Amino acid sequence: MEHFQRHWAESGAGGIHFMPFAPGDPTGPRGVSVDEAFSALDQPGWQRWFCAHDVASGLIIGHVDLKSDSLNTGLHRCELGIGIESAYRKNGLGRRLMTEAMGFVRESNTIDWIDLRVFANNLPARSLYQSLGFVEIGTITDRFRIDSQRIDDVMMTFQVP
Ligand SMILES: CC(C)(COP(=O)(O)OP(=O)(O)OC[C@H]1O[C@@H](n2cnc3c(N)ncnc32)[C@H](O)[C@@H]1OP(=O)(O)O)[C@@H](O)C(=O)NCCC(=O)NCCS
Repeated sequence: MEHFQRHWAESGAGGIHFMPFAPGDPTGPRGVSVDEAFSALDQPGWQRWFCAHDVASGLIIGHVDLKSDSLNTGLHRCELGIGIESAYRKNGLGRRLMTEAMGFVRESNTIDWIDLRVFANNLPARSLYQSLGFVEIGTITDRFRIDSQRIDDVMMTFQVP
């Protein structure tokens, strides 16, 4: 949760948002659910978190999260999120965490699709996802308005081979 709070606080720095919440929004992201992180993959609401930690400080500094659909009928899909704290970006951690999470999904034998959403102006993230085989399937124009910015939201998906 401490990593998540640090990461969330960085959204909006330099006018570049990557989370759909204005800074300090009390309805902000829920973060980790300990119960759901241990739910079985046939239970709607399950989550899994893949974390990178800095050996020197012991702090968690990056994560990929997978969250299941909330319906029994959608359990063959999950949604992915990722965040690396700014001081640790561009060192290959994002790609490593994505690869770990995608390997977990591949071995699950129950999940056939990984979905995600990314702001259109987030070119580093879009480039990472494309390089791993995610395909853009649509864009919701003017999906969010944060600090007077109109943000388009790109939907991407990966079909597990
Ligand atoms: C997007 C993010 C996860 C990438 O993590 P990272 O650890 O910096 O990425 P990596 O070092 O593993 O690089 C992987 C790929 O990402 C892309 N990438 C990363 N930084 C980039 C940049 N500044 N510009 C363009 N592409 C970039 C490249 O395709 C890169 O591939 P390469 O290694 O062949 O160059 C990271 O920038 C981040 O956490 N950003 C803030 C949170 C965020 O945007 N989350 C996604 C919300 S949908």
